[in-house]
This record gives sequence, structure tokens and C-alpha cells, in this order.
Amino acid sequence: MRIAVVGSGYVGLVAGACFADLGHDVVLVDNDQAKLTSLRSGQTPIHEQFLPELLERHRGKRLQFSDDLQTAVKASAAVFIAVGTPPTEQGEADLSYVESVARSISGAINGYKVVVEKSTVPVYTSDWIRKIILRNAAAPDSFDIASNPEFLREGTAVTDFLYPDRIVIGVDSERAASVLRQIYTPLTDGSYYRKQDAIPQPDRARIPPPIIVASAKSAELIKHASNAFLAMKISFINAVSSICESVGANVQQVCQGIGADSRIGTRFLNPGIGYGGSCFPKDLMAFRSVARECGYEFRLLDEVMRINEDQRHRFLRKVRNALWTLRGKRLGVLGLAFKGGTDDIRESPGLLLVQSLVQEGCVITAYDPAAMERARAVLNSSVQFANSPYEAASGADALLILTEWEEFATLDLKRLHRELKYPIIIDGRNLYDPDTMAGLGFSYYSVGRAAPIAEGSTAGAGRPEGKLAQS
Ligand code: UGA
Repeated sequence: MRIAVVGSGYVGLVAGACFADLGHDVVLVDNDQAKLTSLRSGQTPIHEQFLPELLERHRGKRLQFSDDLQTAVKASAAVFIAVGTPPTEQGEADLSYVESVARSISGAINGYKVVVEKSTVPVYTSDWIRKIILRNAAAPDSFDIASNPEFLREGTAVTDFLYPDRIVIGVDSERAASVLRQIYTPLTDGSYYRKQDAIPQPDRARIPPPIIVASAKSAELIKHASNAFLAMKISFINAVSSICESVGANVQQVCQGIGADSRIGTRFLNPGIGYGGSCFPKDLMAFRSVARECGYEFRLLDEVMRINEDQRHRFLRKVRNALWTLRGKRLGVLGLAFKGGTDDIRESPGLLLVQSLVQEGCVITAYDPAAMERARAVLNSSVQFANSPYEAASGADALLILTEWEEFATLDLKRLHRELKYPIIIDGRNLYDPDTMAGLGFSYYSVGRAAPIAEGSTAGAGRPEGKLAQS
């Protein structure tokens, strides 16, 4: 099938490359000339596993790049809108890019097309797109609007796309449903997975994935409600971790116990320094606004956001409790990306913490396997950057772990101990076992788990975690 994907951001670029891998002819449309030039010349603008391979495989063949939206629409049976929907100051999704794309599409409808929302949009957006296209003189039976939300995570976006838990198609006509079904047939009939050069299967893949057909409005809500639910799960466990700290329980054991209930599950129950990224914070605000507009005050979402912010402040208090005063303290920081496996620093809780610590007068040397270039542009010269975790730790009063990179979970701890001025680690991602760390002579503070005092250690003025909440 011939497909146009409008917007070459995270979702558009991954979707375009994956559609090409499913065998479709794809035109990826963007109005950013610099981006088009770099894509055409073989660069991959985002750090994403398997994406360079797919772009290399299909660039100039089944995957073309263009700034000509109208020609792309004319040549395509389906047009996916994957442009940004950034938050306004009030927290609503700004749909002006979606509207302007819809307007351009209307002038290029030369036969039946399915216009598909791929961006995360509030419920009712499909109705608006339809109105805009009709207002601009397209015939009512010449197109349908569909919603096909994307559930990919940064860092694993390509495998999430090709091995999804489910494919949701929100349609209000059988004709549109059949076009979308056809696009995803290589996944739903399993033929893609039998290909020699298919992108490797991740753990827990559901093959073939189920297809869920819903109304366009239901599909729009599925996306917002999924993200809100996942964020709620994270805030829930972060709240539980605070209680664990107060009573001296171990949040990991608690997670194991509650996650073993198959109705709950263990995934997305990792406590930490709060969720970040370009999706959860923005989508929760947008969902709350949508609910309010529909006459429902979704206070639960306010609380999810409040707990998320509080989690960062609690971590700062932990740093203070471990080090006493902060002015002039040298800190090594591991992790600036909002999570492991990506160079994205948008709404990164780790980066926000670094900024707060700089304001408190700390002297920071940071290391991140992928996000340093982006972080440098934001932090300017307020932070030094290191070439390795050990260099970041060298001579530091304490080491902070702020992103759950796999690399940070397998450090040479003896070497780290030698590098640090004081063997103090404050781990916002629970990457190590507290007893092992104490055995190695570290004063180790983590989230929702008691901090055993290292034998023979005098380093750090930290009190036991159990006392934190009372102090
Ligand atoms: C999220 C959703 O997981 C995707 O399903 C969705 O498609 C995407 O948003 C989107 O709407 O585009 P993403 O933002 O890439 O994906 O990242 P996640 O893996 O969900 O992590 C979000 C944040 O939560 C990160 O800061 C991460 O460190 C944190 N997190 C995640 C936790 O603190 N604990 C957990 O157990 C899981």
C-alpha cells in the first residue's frame, strides 16, 4: 500500500520506517528542510535501536522523504498525521499543527483516502479533522478519519511498533477499517515474523498481535487513558516507597508481592525519581484538560502529578541527608536522559535534579552514554561532563544515579570505590542491592529501601532511611 506519514518526529519516523519494513511504499513528509537533508544523507536524528538499520534498508527505495504534502497525499491510500501536539500554557494539547495538516490534505484528495491520527490527540479530534477537511471542500464520501494510536516507548520504539501488545484501530466505517487492517496484515497474519530479515523478536512478544477495532473516539481515549494509567502505576509505587522508607520495609519485596497478582503485574512498578519524558507529563495534563472540558474533574490525575513532583523533592532531601550541606559539594552524576536507552532529555527528572543541585551550589560532573550533547545545550557551562562513569565519580563527595541505563547496573564497584573521595552512592533507580553495597564499604541510599550502614564506614552523615520521613 502507498502510505504518507506527515511529521518525521519520533512517532512519524519510526512508523514510516516500520511501515516500509512491512512492505509498504512510504513517503515521509516534513517541512523542516534541514531534517530532510540529514535523513536523505543517511543520518538518524534520534538514538533508537534498529532505526538506523531500517532507514538504511529502505531509504530511497520503499521510504522517500519529501516536503511536498499535497503530492504525497495524492499518491497515497492512507495518510498518517504524526505531527507534534505540544502543551499550551494551560496544559491543553496545541492542535494547530494537526489542523494545518488537515487543511492541506483536503486540497489533495483525489480519490478515497483514510486520514489517520497517529499523534496523541484529545478525544473529538477526529471530528474536528473531518470538519476541517469538509470545510475545505472535500466530498464527504471521499475520505474517512481514523485513529490509530501508537504505544511505542523511546529506546525500544522499533520493536514496540513491530511486536506490539495490541494494534488499536479507531474507525467509524468498514471501508476505513479494511484499509487499516490491510496495512497491518503482515503483523496480524504473522508473515512479517517469518521473514529472514525481520527485526529480532523481543522478550514477551505477543505473536501475532491482536487487533482491537473501536470507534475513533474510543481509540483516542484508549491512548490517553493508557498513558495516564501507566503514570498512575508509577506514582502509586513511588508513594508506597515513601511509606516503606518510613517503616523500614523494602519496596522491592513489596513490588514482588503485589506484582505477582496477575491482575496487577510487576511491570511499571519500579520506584525511582518520578516519571519524565515527552509523553507522560504532557499527556496527563492534556487528559485532565479534556476531562474538565467534558465536565469531569479528574482529581486523581492531579494527585498522580503531585506525587511525581514530590518524588524529586524527596530525592533532594535524601542527598541532603547523606551529605548535610550542599554548597561546594562535588557530585558525580550518572544519567541525564529521562530514562535508559535514549538521548532524550525532555522533562528528564534527572536533569531537573541536576539543575536544582547546581542552584544549591553543588559542583557537578555528569556522564550519560547518549544524552550529554543534548544536556550540554541546556546546562551550558554549569556542569562538567565526563567520558565515563568512573571519571564522573573521580574525587567526588558522592555519586548520584539518576537514569536506569543498563551500563550503570554493571559498574566495577571496587574501581568506583577507589575513584570516589567518599564512598557514598545515592541511587534514584535502585540498580544495586543495598546489602552488597554495604558489604563493599559504600554508604548506599536508594528509593524505598533501608540504607544499611557500611561496616567500618564513617563516610556520610546520613541517617537511616527509616527516619527520613519523620525528620
Ligand atoms: C510512554 C509509554 O510507555 C508508551 O507506551 C507511549 O507510547 C509513550 O509514552 C507515548 O505516549 O509516546 P516513554 O515516554 O518512551 O513511553 O517512556 P516510558 O518507558 O514509559 O518511561 C516514562 C518515564 O517513567 C521514564 O522517566 C521512566 O524512567 C519512568 N518509569 C517507567 C519509572 O519511573 N518506573 C517504571 O516502572 C517505568
